[in-house]
Amino acid sequence: MEVLRTIAELRQHTSRWHVEGQTIGLVPTMGALHDGHLSLIKIAQQKCNRVIATIFVNPRQFLPDEDFEEYPRDEDRDIKKLVEMGVDLLFAPNASEMYQPDASTTVVISKLTDCLCATSRPGFFDGVGTVVTKLLIQALPDIAIFGEKDYQQLLIIKRLARDLDIPAQIIGAPTIREADGLAVSSRNVYLSQNNRETASNVFKILKKTATTIALGNDILVACEEARSELIFAGFSGIDYFEARHSKTLELIEKFETSGRLFAAVWLGSTRLIDNLEIKDYTD
Ligand code: PAJ
Repeated sequence: MEVLRTIAELRQHTSRWHVEGQTIGLVPTMGALHDGHLSLIKIAQQKCNRVIATIFVNPRQFLPDEDFEEYPRDEDRDIKKLVEMGVDLLFAPNASEMYQPDASTTVVISKLTDCLCATSRPGFFDGVGTVVTKLLIQALPDIAIFGEKDYQQLLIIKRLARDLDIPAQIIGAPTIREADGLAVSSRNVYLSQNNRETASNVFKILKKTATTIALGNDILVACEEARSELIFAGFSGIDYFEARHSKTLELIEKFETSGRLFAAVWLGSTRLIDNLEIKDYTD
């Protein structure tokens, strides 16, 4: 597997592949690779002849008081995993390759960004939108895979690719979870043993609330109850726990099949997000 640092080198490979008629799948990441990332790579491999993974801890999507400096980085370990998976190329540029010192352009997504993480992390999706647009233009893949774990991000990326006529199909992939239901995340390494146990309650409460709503109970009451249960379980704060439409992200007031629950919670200084389709999960 070649590790490329420059956009020019990346373009050489992708142009050749396009001429040869190979199909290209792109999997953008910020590294600290885990089973969630690897599941996206597997999907890309099933759908394309060539797979490019990218690792770039994008400074533009971290707010000044967020964990950019502490964000886990271990490129050697990541490279090993990608080689084992049989990935064709790793594109891992540094920040100066990605952003010119006088860079003046930001991709701002105006719909889908008045709620959830856009509210609790202002500017975050401008950073994501800008870097993902750049990666899609740099690699010109046939498809790009993103996780439903970051559901709002997935919708926003689908929207920007459509609106900017970027000729890549954006594909969503299911959330990979630990045995106790906790969504796998690079940030889980921040959790102490105690907090790790508490963390599994996000999924449990999402599942229970989804079932409660699917069985016909009041959405607002169910979400209020879920917030109380989260605090009781030991979470130190809740950015949101809400039921929204899975395409428009509008709040929903009564159960519908395209409803989804969204949660963002704090355990000390670690923020966890998760989401789940609203349906009856009783076996
Ligand atoms: P990162 O958090 O590294 O995630 C990279 C991709 O992996 C995203 O599409 C994310 O949704 C997916 N992912 C993370 N955890 C997952 C899980 N448990 N199951 C399935 N997929 C999972 O998301 C980002 O990076 C960045 O914002 C990025 C899109 C790379 C732009 O910088």
